[in-house]
Amino acid sequence: MFVDQRGLPLTTASEQAVIVFDSTIDSYLALKRDTGLLLKSALQADPDMVMAHCLKGYFFKLMAAGPLEARAAETQAKAETLATDSTAREQAHVAALGHWCNDNHAAACAVWDSILAEHPLDVLAMRLSHHAHFYAGDGPTMRAVVEGALPDWGPAIPGYGFVLGMRSFACEESGDYRTAEVVGREAVKHNPDDPWAIHAVAHVMEMEDRRCEGAAWITSHEDHWLPANNFRFHLWWHRALIHLEVGDLDEVLRLYDENLWDPTSDEYLDLCNDAAILLRLEMLGVDVGGRWAPLAGKVRERTEEHILTFIDAHFAIILSAVGEMDAVEYLIKTMKAKGGYVREHVGVPLLNAILDYQHAGYERAAAMLNQVRDEIVLIGGSHAQRDLFEWMLIDSLIKSGNLNRAKSFLFERTLARPENAASWQRYGEVLAGLGDSIGAAAAEEKVTQLTTT
Ligand SMILES: [Fe+2]
Repeated sequence: MFVDQRGLPLTTASEQAVIVFDSTIDSYLALKRDTGLLLKSALQADPDMVMAHCLKGYFFKLMAAGPLEARAAETQAKAETLATDSTAREQAHVAALGHWCNDNHAAACAVWDSILAEHPLDVLAMRLSHHAHFYAGDGPTMRAVVEGALPDWGPAIPGYGFVLGMRSFACEESGDYRTAEVVGREAVKHNPDDPWAIHAVAHVMEMEDRRCEGAAWITSHEDHWLPANNFRFHLWWHRALIHLEVGDLDEVLRLYDENLWDPTSDEYLDLCNDAAILLRLEMLGVDVGGRWAPLAGKVRERTEEHILTFIDAHFAIILSAVGEMDAVEYLIKTMKAKGGYVREHVGVPLLNAILDYQHAGYERAAAMLNQVRDEIVLIGGSHAQRDLFEWMLIDSLIKSGNLNRAKSFLFERTLARPENAASWQRYGEVLAGLGDSIGAAAAEEKVTQLTTT
């Protein structure tokens, strides 16, 4: 029995395995590219280390890819056989992995949260809980989980910066932008090599439409997020979003081609980033050419996975963009069969709305998007990511001639984000369509003011 760098006991006979296990956790939290290799080294040092097997299963699950689901379950079974003489904390991790493998995210979260109540320094449990609550759209619980453990942390404890980074992002997703920014900046100061914390502050700037600051923040921290794993593409996504909001569409396309698009990647976040940017461009009237086709090639065989509804929604966008309606209908059918509240009550209408939207059925798309509007948060992802569906709703209303309703939603947006040029732009266009030339001119002036300052 040894202890990790935060003093938590690990069942193993190999000190080397513990050292490399610690490095693996550090690498995972820092979104580095050597995480898998480090884990392999830990398992080489001790092939029977229960937490190393458990971590392997967690990593398979975090990849959210169909072919890895069975491997995660096999790894969990192996961990379970090794866990008989391990600590209660280690056994709880194995149980949480089991719940996750059984698609029971709530039960997995309950275990991680109970581990944290007992062992607040279990940063692995914290990060996994953070991730799961994020994909349940539950910002307040993300925040409560981190802050509940905070009294036991301090700057001298290894990993403290990562905890601040999680707290920052949790505050951002809870709408507390002031705390999120202060804590995020502190996290980056404490540990500059934390792309998650850099990303949290970028989110604050995105939500507050501080475009220049956002672009400068992302660019000035490039040295610390460019070496990251595929998460770096998501930072490029945020950079592209800033240009998209002020109509700098050529730059968005350039960023897509040169920085976002990775022909070799099948990672779900990359697929979601790519789909969201291409669809946003199309909503603004840009012909994205043949960019959808290779994306469709990556997801065509993944219509039975249903790992996260958030991912399924992006798969539906991609497949319907290339006219593969049958594939989307199959995606919806198998999603319904898999069941669960979010899939049935939010996922199915959302995917149907996407299908209709992509094939000019704007009236039906608007009705279904409006139906799921209050609960769409349950598919998880960030506010910035889910904003795509709000834009889809507004675009559907405009294209189906329901300008009065579109005007209401757009006005709501200008109230919530008064500095958002894209909302004012669209609002002005709708007012012009309704014959309100004075209102349209005022909105246009606001756009000029926002895009020239
Ligand atoms: Fe993000």
